[in-house]
Amino acid sequence: MRHLLDTRTLSRDDAILILDTAEDMAATQQREMKKLPTLRGKSVVNLFFEDSTRTRISFEAAAKRLSADVINFSAKGSSVSKGESLKDTAQTLQAIGADGVIIRHPASGAASRLASSGWIDAGVLNAGDGMHEHPTQALLDAFTMRRRLHGDASRGAGLDGVSVVIVGDIAHSRVARSNLWLLTGLGAKVSLVAPETLLPFGVRDWPVSIYHSLDDALRAENPDVVMMLRIQTERMHAAFFPNEREYARNWGFDDRRLATLSERAIVMHPGPMNRGLEISSGAADSPRSTVLEQVANGVSVRMACLYLLLSGERTEG
Ligand code: NCD
Repeated sequence: MRHLLDTRTLSRDDAILILDTAEDMAATQQREMKKLPTLRGKSVVNLFFEDSTRTRISFEAAAKRLSADVINFSAKGSSVSKGESLKDTAQTLQAIGADGVIIRHPASGAASRLASSGWIDAGVLNAGDGMHEHPTQALLDAFTMRRRLHGDASRGAGLDGVSVVIVGDIAHSRVARSNLWLLTGLGAKVSLVAPETLLPFGVRDWPVSIYHSLDDALRAENPDVVMMLRIQTERMHAAFFPNEREYARNWGFDDRRLATLSERAIVMHPGPMNRGLEISSGAADSPRSTVLEQVANGVSVRMACLYLLLSGERTEG
């Protein structure tokens, strides 16, 4: 692997290799001395053109635990806000000698543009490009599912036969897209639930079942995993649903719906959560909720990705 740009083109074998490597990384994080020498001498740049808290600090923690030097570059307060192009920024990073670039950008395709441009030699990790993909989020979600549902039998396993219901603002969600490709590639059955206005154009060509009613989906799919998405008001330029109360009543994961889940089922959310809108506090804080595990697992999964991409000599291909 040279870059990690999406999950749509990630093979099942590579996905399982990343998840198994993340298990090894998680084991090292139980030790008192969490730091490994693996990426000593390598420089990793966190290149963030969009606001982010957990993803940026998660990548930073992951790189530092592998002993890489981390340079945080956020567009606000940098030359990017003076109009510098992605090309000039990339060439600057090349001149600095970056070995890895973690990029978050509001434009779909920005990460693959950077990877295929020839402007830099660094390995590129997509940390979210517009509404397109967010592969490390999907990998940490799959890792969390595998651990909760398979326990000690996780290593080497896919998610065959696991039923996952993804609910909410699918249209604007790179998390939904990355999860859909990864999870189906690992053998899971994915269903999407949203009002028609929050489903993307072309969704009916995806390998998923589609529901408008959350209660219908819960009844029909008897899910092992319910994944709630944040309503992304920053990407909405019109009214996509009548009002927040109406949304919460129809598509929010509340205490009543929580009580209908099967015994082994879990509730996920990538964060940041709008409590009371897409998820109730009762559901978010329940023992079935994996919200904080997802954050913790994110560090192990990002360590695995950085290790697989950046350790050793980087070769072409
Ligand atoms: C997600 C993102 O930025 O795409 N969040 C994250 O990575 N922590 C989802 C979201 O913002 O709703």
